[in-house]
Amino acid sequence: MGLSFTLKLGLFAALVSYLAGPIGHLVQITGVFLTPVPTVLGEGQGPIYIADTVHCEDVHHYRPANLLFTACEDHKSTRFSWFPPLGHMSPPGTRGSLHVVDPKTMKSTRLAFTNFEGPFVTHGVDIVEDPKANAVYIFAVNHLPNPAYFEAGEPDGVHKARSQIELFHHVLGSSTVQHVRSIYHPLVETPNDVYAESPVSFYVTNDHFYREGVMRMVEDFWSSAKWSSIIHVQIDSLSKDSNVEASVALQGLWNNNGLGHGRTDKEMIISSAVGGELYVSTPHSNHTIEVQETIPFQTVTDNPSYYADPYRTDTDDASGFVVAGISQAVYLASNARNPDATDASQVWYTRYLSDTGVWEKKLLFEDDGLRIRTASAAVLVPIEPKDDKKLAWLFVTGFMSEGMIAVQVEL
Ligand SMILES: *[C@@H]1O[C@H](CO)[C@@H](O)[C@H](O)[C@H]1NC(C)=O
Repeated sequence: MGLSFTLKLGLFAALVSYLAGPIGHLVQITGVFLTPVPTVLGEGQGPIYIADTVHCEDVHHYRPANLLFTACEDHKSTRFSWFPPLGHMSPPGTRGSLHVVDPKTMKSTRLAFTNFEGPFVTHGVDIVEDPKANAVYIFAVNHLPNPAYFEAGEPDGVHKARSQIELFHHVLGSSTVQHVRSIYHPLVETPNDVYAESPVSFYVTNDHFYREGVMRMVEDFWSSAKWSSIIHVQIDSLSKDSNVEASVALQGLWNNNGLGHGRTDKEMIISSAVGGELYVSTPHSNHTIEVQETIPFQTVTDNPSYYADPYRTDTDDASGFVVAGISQAVYLASNARNPDATDASQVWYTRYLSDTGVWEKKLLFEDDGLRIRTASAAVLVPIEPKDDKKLAWLFVTGFMSEGMIAVQVEL
């Protein structure tokens, strides 16, 4: 673990005692006293290791085609030197790719780019239907090294990362993906995840205000550091150089991180990763976001997803929200440069019980990091009910995991 870990732990402890905020919650989120209890799986419950899914931070289930979409780093070592979301700022960035995972075959297909060159340092994605074809548009965060820094003698005051959003087009069933355009706007500084409203309109989270340094650490540990934001971005058209407009849609959350589509077309779910909270929200037509409800969790709450139970009845509805996150955040700083470290995770599920008005929560899966490292997103894919049991495949992926896994769970 070494000196740097001891120093960070010391600094962390000092921060905790100095800032004195809601310490109990913070202790829970950081997992200082947590002992992971890896979920025991029965016969036929997996885990199924999905080949060729290295460091895929986010995953979405595109229900109309029953396919999962993800963006992966593809190389086991590169993320440990260049990945601005972890404060890793030594280029060059690598060239990751978009993958489609078929939940029927449990196989991942790496989509070949037809017209896209250069680095692709992947993070959050979102998928939106192409209404004119049997195809989808894919929005993907790309954390590019900034040429104005690295190719200009590393001048002071210039940011090292120049992150942007890439827009791709993919014909369902094909093994290729076409680059439509890059989308850059200075308001999008530390992008993490995307919520696509249409092929020309989307929201993106800036997960931090500070990109590096002590203030970034303060931001990670101080619950009053509500300095993250969500930006709305609108492009004039899909043509490469058309105008990009952006505005602040929401400010004042702590470390807003993952975005997901909720129960209706008009519902957005937002997670605060270190805050361990999920915000059920509405994006308004004037491109501001209103938080309606807060659902607290006791662990880091990364990318959220919504599961719509296709077998729901009036009396039995397993639809709910799923969040995945690391459960011992206290070790992240020391493990984040080690390709072989293990980081424990938990995946939680919550559904609303209308008779009592409470969000029932269930730990769907827990691991010590040997089967899945740094879980950051999870989705449920339904299985036809057996003996009245509601079953699903839970796909879990992590930003530093060697692969995505699928485990069978009962809801
Ligand atoms: C945006 O629309 C919502 C809902 O109609 C409204 O409550 C809010 O005040 C509007 N915000 C702005 C800045 O216009």
